[in-house]
Amino acid sequence: PAAPRINPSILSADFVNMQADLERIATADFVHVDVMDNHFVPNLTFGPQMVERIQQTSPVPLDVHLMITDADRWAPGYAELGAASVTFHLEAAAEPIALARRLRARGARAGVAVKPGTPVEGLFEHLHEFDQILVMTVEPGFGGQSFMGDMMPKLRSLSAEARTRGADVWLQVDGGISASTIGQAAEAGADTFVAGSAVFGATDVASSVADLRALAAE
Ligand code: DX5
Ligand code: ZN
Repeated sequence: PAAPRINPSILSADFVNMQADLERIATADFVHVDVMDNHFVPNLTFGPQMVERIQQTSPVPLDVHLMITDADRWAPGYAELGAASVTFHLEAAAEPIALARRLRARGARAGVAVKPGTPVEGLFEHLHEFDQILVMTVEPGFGGQSFMGDMMPKLRSLSAEARTRGADVWLQVDGGISASTIGQAAEAGADTFVAGSAVFGATDVASSVADLRALAAE
């Protein structure tokens, strides 16, 4: 299997020292950028203007996670500003397949995310339409929450379906990923790991990225 990808979430970075924090994660695979609108989730971060500056500043490509309503309207703009991947929530999209196609047409990897209460079976026959599926292991909105181990069956079934159907789709997990939980998620089939507080809360950010990558590969 490919080397596991570690995507630090800048939700746990210092918002007024963003450039320095982006440089601290230069060894990561992608920088995970949480866009929240205070409507789809009860928290507010930033929008396209900030993401564009992060895109211009970051040494690593952007993995944008949109926690916003009306994804059909807003997601393509994030692909246009150069994000490597754009992930919208299945619960927030009227036409998820059409939206994924619009993201790919704009040069981005197309991702779809599911909240803990949302089943994934409906995605099985459309796996080839997506480049990544994000299984949330917390209720979206905040960093520092506890990992939900009961989401592992979703990863296992997605992993089995992708294998059966020959779909080249990355399986991402987000929420509560740390040195003590990343192994379970990897074992269940995840290959791409978002970590906020575990990375930015570490005294040595670069070694926390390396340690998580090694633990996921075990
Ligand atoms: C939560 C965000 C996550 C968050 C994860 O809604 O989508 O990306 O930053 O933070 P940790 O790793 O601290 O759970
Ligand atoms: Zn996220």
